[in-house]
Amino acid sequence: MRQFISTDQLTEKDIIQLIKQAQKYKLSSPQIDEQMFAANLFFEPSTRTKMSFIVAQRKLGLEILDFNKEISSVQKGESLYDTAKTLESIGANLLVIRDKKDDWMEELKGINIPIINAGAGKAEHPTQSLLDLLTIYEEYGSFKNLNVTIVGDIKYSRVAHSNAKALRRLGANVSLSAPPVFQEDSGDWNNISIDEAVKWSDVLMLLRVQHERHPDKMKKNMTSYLEKYGLTIEREKRMKKHAIILHPAPVNRGVEIDTELVECSKSRIFKQMNNGVYIRMAIITKLLKEWGYINEKTIEKRDTLNGHKRIHTI
Ligand code: CP
Repeated sequence: MRQFISTDQLTEKDIIQLIKQAQKYKLSSPQIDEQMFAANLFFEPSTRTKMSFIVAQRKLGLEILDFNKEISSVQKGESLYDTAKTLESIGANLLVIRDKKDDWMEELKGINIPIINAGAGKAEHPTQSLLDLLTIYEEYGSFKNLNVTIVGDIKYSRVAHSNAKALRRLGANVSLSAPPVFQEDSGDWNNISIDEAVKWSDVLMLLRVQHERHPDKMKKNMTSYLEKYGLTIEREKRMKKHAIILHPAPVNRGVEIDTELVECSKSRIFKQMNNGVYIRMAIITKLLKEWGYINEKTIEKRDTLNGHKRIHTI
């Protein structure tokens, strides 16, 4: 795998290996014994994804190039391709990219360093999916026959699109629960009401209402959303005893979920964020290995390299 763009690129075995690697990294962080640079190119806002990539990169010993689109040459009209090519030329070994276009990666075919998708429009958010899968795996130890409902703004959610397919491949029973305007146009998904979902699900995966992606004519008052489609205190009481609540966050408190439930005993929302660091370490090291930048067996010190190919153990 040269670039990590979609969960579709990973086999079920790859996903379990990444989960197990992340669990190992929770116990002990490796350090890449070589100077390597990562650049995080966020053209859409982010708190969790960007910060957890930075923590993951620092734990691995990568140096982070301080890219900020507001004070970069993007403001002078530089394209995504020219920005990425510039960073490659300067010496970046890894690019992490988020952009509002679903297909921004199509512009980057000529980039010769690893790229990780940190969010592509409404299409995919594969590292969010992996951290969700890690969180579910830590709870249940398997995905087989788990009942998972993805709830809310499915149509505009890259998180839903990455997760639904991956969870189904891993053997989960996936249902969707959404108001008509947020339902998927395609696919053979089972649509259920939120009241059915709370009784049926082992995992209730709530989604943020993606106001910024909605067409103007759709923008509306959300005051009745929680009562009609969200997780209220009353609905939480009807969930299975062992069931868990996920949400990729940021949470619109009082819209997708009652604010009192955000940190309730079933909620794994902040555990998801913590897991994001370790799964991102796992995907970074997988890519760097596949590019031959690091490997399991060889240890060479940075200061003894003299320009030879630098390969390191982690
Ligand atoms: N879940 C998620 O992608 O959050 P950020 O937009 O804050 O990165």
